[in-house]
Amino acid sequence: MQQAHQFQDGDLVSKDEFYEHVIRGLSKKNKTLHPKYFYDKKGSEYFDQICQLDEYYPYKTELALLPKVARSVAEILTEDYALIEFGAGSLLKVEPLLEHVRGIEQFIPIDISGEHLRDACSQLSARFPALHVHPVEGDFTQQVAVPCAEDLQRIGFFPGSTIGNFSPSEAQNFLQQARATLGPNSYLLIGVDTKKSPACLHRAYNDAQGVTAAFNLNILHRVNQHFDANIDVAKFEHYAFYNATKGCVEMHLVCLHSHEVVLDEVSINFTAGETIHTESSYKYTPQEFGTLAESSGWHVHSHWLADHNMFSVFLLQNAETFV
Ligand code: TRP
Repeated sequence: MQQAHQFQDGDLVSKDEFYEHVIRGLSKKNKTLHPKYFYDKKGSEYFDQICQLDEYYPYKTELALLPKVARSVAEILTEDYALIEFGAGSLLKVEPLLEHVRGIEQFIPIDISGEHLRDACSQLSARFPALHVHPVEGDFTQQVAVPCAEDLQRIGFFPGSTIGNFSPSEAQNFLQQARATLGPNSYLLIGVDTKKSPACLHRAYNDAQGVTAAFNLNILHRVNQHFDANIDVAKFEHYAFYNATKGCVEMHLVCLHSHEVVLDEVSINFTAGETIHTESSYKYTPQEFGTLAESSGWHVHSHWLADHNMFSVFLLQNAETFV
């Protein structure tokens, strides 16, 4: 186990891991920064602003679909449950489930941005006083210990198409791991963004106000703060485009002027025109996602589509249940 250090901004991330990821990612021929580092307190706030933008359809479309999903799920799931949310953020999407699905006794949100999560949990507890809320500050891309009551069945909740931020093989891995975490007789309710017009995708990831650009660039500010480094953020530009061959939106930071940066005695050269790849957002047709889920040991119990097939939500059932 690596030792975890409390950073000044209150976000618990292993310092060694952050250090290693940044140095390793920026030393590669095609530079990368891991998207989980977007979500310090400032980054989580920017992301909340993105979700309010007219152009960013995934958030609003899924949120509008969830009450309908929750009503159907309430008819399917009739036992007593612990609900575990992966990458919980500001906890706004779970409310329709808590309102409609009667048997949810315990709620365990997992998020890497601890301070943001704790604030969101106090607000949620005020709205649902009878619910047992146990926030877990952790990285859901790795196995996380969840403090579930033994006698409760487990439902995983993974909205926002965050699954799309994994590559398809990482997504398969995540789905298998989630199945192990959630155990026998479990379900996973998961939001998945669909394939659609590239022009629409382009607008969603390049908003007119520049909030998305600020969010993407914030990761460089974060690196500067933690390394006491001198990356000249003004020399980078947000660049997002749909890669139809891969079926994903790719987010990059393009370097506009060559310069050298020193990160804790390691020197990194940035050349004009090169990019730092910060995130990919894979989009799946319902058929493609169904195949991925089945290949990861889940059975597709039900799925719902938003108007114009703009977004989908799947209820997966642990296939072991049938063995
Ligand atoms: N998980 C979000 C998505 O894929 C993250 C996101 C939205 C994002 N806009 C972005 C990441 C811009 C980087 C840059 O939709």
